[in-house]
Amino acid sequence: MDSIIVTGGGALEGQIPIAGAKNAALTLMPATLLSEEPLTLTNMPRLSDIRTMTALLSSLGTEVSALSQGQVVAMSSHTISNHTADYDIVRKMRASNLVLGPMLAREHHAVVSLPGGCAIGARPMDIHTIGLEALGAEIELKDGYLHAVARGGLKGAVHELRFPSVGATENLVMAATLAKGTTVLKNAAREPEIVDLVSCLKKMGAQIAGEGTSTIEIQGVDRLHGATHPVVTDRIELGTYMLAPVIAGGEVECLGGRISLIEAFCEKLDAAGVSVTETDAGIKVARKNGRVSAVDVTTEVFPGFPTDLQAQMMALMCTADGVSVLEEKIFENRFMHTPELVRMGANIDVQGGTATVTGVDRLKGAPVMATDLRASVSLILAGLAAEGQTTVNRVYHLDRGYEKIEDKLGNVGAKIERVRGI
Ligand code: EPU
Repeated sequence: MDSIIVTGGGALEGQIPIAGAKNAALTLMPATLLSEEPLTLTNMPRLSDIRTMTALLSSLGTEVSALSQGQVVAMSSHTISNHTADYDIVRKMRASNLVLGPMLAREHHAVVSLPGGCAIGARPMDIHTIGLEALGAEIELKDGYLHAVARGGLKGAVHELRFPSVGATENLVMAATLAKGTTVLKNAAREPEIVDLVSCLKKMGAQIAGEGTSTIEIQGVDRLHGATHPVVTDRIELGTYMLAPVIAGGEVECLGGRISLIEAFCEKLDAAGVSVTETDAGIKVARKNGRVSAVDVTTEVFPGFPTDLQAQMMALMCTADGVSVLEEKIFENRFMHTPELVRMGANIDVQGGTATVTGVDRLKGAPVMATDLRASVSLILAGLAAEGQTTVNRVYHLDRGYEKIEDKLGNVGAKIERVRGI
């Protein structure tokens, strides 16, 4: 298995291009199942999660071709030949559950493996299934698989989600596009990836209003057609690379970034003493003074501080001036990076969903291991500021969400290399 070695100490200067959003791409790809006509996505990130979704869609009968070295993905779901999303694929990536809504809408039946828990929490699917049942589906759990049937097709309904789940909102919006009548989703998620999905669905002929607010109204149509859609910028990759020059020193411009994608995060950076400037090409970031100040962070649904940037923000707080309190409110177990950061000399105390970080002058490089994507990248960031070498093992987590991280950071002066494993 590959590992990444980071040698800390050097300041970073230059530009980092930000890719299309993994989490938008992972919901846009299953939207192909809603139409017999081709769907083409541009600005696609080149990630192992995208390859997993490609394998899943191919197993259902979709023809998928990657063009322009994977930056364009053309899909055609003329015929859905298999209606079962197999456990072997779903267990690798939870977002596989996003084929359920579209298949149920177009084919009126689908069998999707329950993904099971993952390192960051139990992650049940009740909000998805209760919502689909409100649209007329009958769903039964048999042998670890959700068997869903919509006799006579899905029917529009007014439904309030018990929590604004991103994935459930995506599944329900896709399902409702082909349902009979009007669906009103209340307490819907508002994340930019949902706005991007709706923008694509509208190009395919869907009638939707209210995306980006907590009430989304969908008027069902008989069929959707083909479209071409560019994937929105990855706000989490953006926030991650914005932290690199703050942690390592120097100044970096993140190309393609817009503050509107991550306002709550930018406000925290500003409070910590970081200069964040929007330019024509993206966002420029640098520390204002020598050392950043500790700030408290609570993760929330959009437009609050994203849970997907909590680990990276903690890496910054490890060397901040003062004590910061980080509260994780979205996932029950998303502090696996803390014992690894502690091995690098950080002072962190975790009690339940709250981590108290007392800033130290300097971290020290160490061999570290991570159990999820954002935890892994937080260790790379910490390594940029640490004295000596940090070896991050289990790099396959990183490859799920960060395209060519060693090139992107290496090009702005970071000492980072990938060591190929067996
Ligand atoms: N939840 C339930 N029941 C459900 C669905 C969710 O209890 O039916 C709970 C989850 O267990 C969790 C909370 O609700 O505690 C939020 O989950 P949500 O459904 O909003 O998240 P998701 O759709 O599974 C997406 C991203 C995650 C990101 C979250 C929150 C994708 C593919 N994944 O997951 O991204 O953390 O939204 O913003 O879009 C990542 O990229 O590293 C990542 C984990």
